[in-house]
Amino acid sequence: MTSPAAEFDPFSKPHLLGISDLSAFDIENLLDRANAWAERNALPDNKHAILRGRTQINLFFESSTRTQSSFEIAGKRLGADVMNMSVASSSVKKGETLLDTAVTLNAMRPDLLVVRHSGSGAVELLARKVANCAVVNAGDGSHEHPTQALLDALTIRRRKGRIQGLKVAICGDIAHSRVARSNILSLAALGAQVNVVAPSTLMPTAIDRMGVNVFRNMDEGVEGCDVIMMLRLQRERMSGAFVPSSREFFHYYGLDSRRLALAKPDALVMHPGPMNRGVEIDSVVADGTQSVIRDQVEMGVAVRMAVLEALADNLHGGDNVKAAGA
Ligand code: NCD
Repeated sequence: MTSPAAEFDPFSKPHLLGISDLSAFDIENLLDRANAWAERNALPDNKHAILRGRTQINLFFESSTRTQSSFEIAGKRLGADVMNMSVASSSVKKGETLLDTAVTLNAMRPDLLVVRHSGSGAVELLARKVANCAVVNAGDGSHEHPTQALLDALTIRRRKGRIQGLKVAICGDIAHSRVARSNILSLAALGAQVNVVAPSTLMPTAIDRMGVNVFRNMDEGVEGCDVIMMLRLQRERMSGAFVPSSREFFHYYGLDSRRLALAKPDALVMHPGPMNRGVEIDSVVADGTQSVIRDQVEMGVAVRMAVLEALADNLHGGDNVKAAGA
């Protein structure tokens, strides 16, 4: 089976580090490619040779279930040799390790490097240090998670037929969420109106500069929305207590059937996972008819195939040794 890439404009970037680097055209290009893969993934024959001979390393300094496995499946479906390197973040000194890691990786000559790290900006640093290799940000600290935003956009676009003009509420721990940041950037670029809903302790200062509407009251924030995107409390990024208790958080900021009824009747319920049921979302809603949480996981594979393929198209085959001092 040939690559669907032939149908699309080339993707002009050497890496995918964040949505902030992309134009609306770049985002649409990746979504169109991903949509083509989503169609093909529904067919029985899912193995392709597009990345045959390419080596993909998944380097995860933070734990992950769906993102890592989704990148692994995506690479394997495209025929790449995929290797998973999981590094316990607690046992490494960040700066030193990243540079050491870059030296090690250069010796292994990967073509595609998928990186998750707890430090915002760490993935970009690695991209600058690793020779002739395409780097994908699979989540850096509270900064960006571009493939999550792309899979969310694809899920919405396939369900609603468009993104332009939709009203999307992103609710919960906005302050620590790279998912929120990447989604705000991509949804704004694609013409959606974004409401962010959180208590003051979980709302970044100056968030309104990102062009969003800010709500402290959840009922008001979700009213009339086409999409409600819930976020997990990112306790691993908090020092101290940002909410009085999980029970109280659910009372004021949890998505239950009553709050969902304030949105449009056909509103979509989304969550990037992992979900904390009873903390930010009620099970009845998470498993209900308006939930597209499983679609998000499915679209994750298609989006990652599109990204890996688009970046591999830009790789110069063979020589991946960067000039000294670069
Ligand atoms: C998100 C992440 O890791 O940023 N999850 C994911 O990628 N599926 C959100 C989260 O951890 O809550």
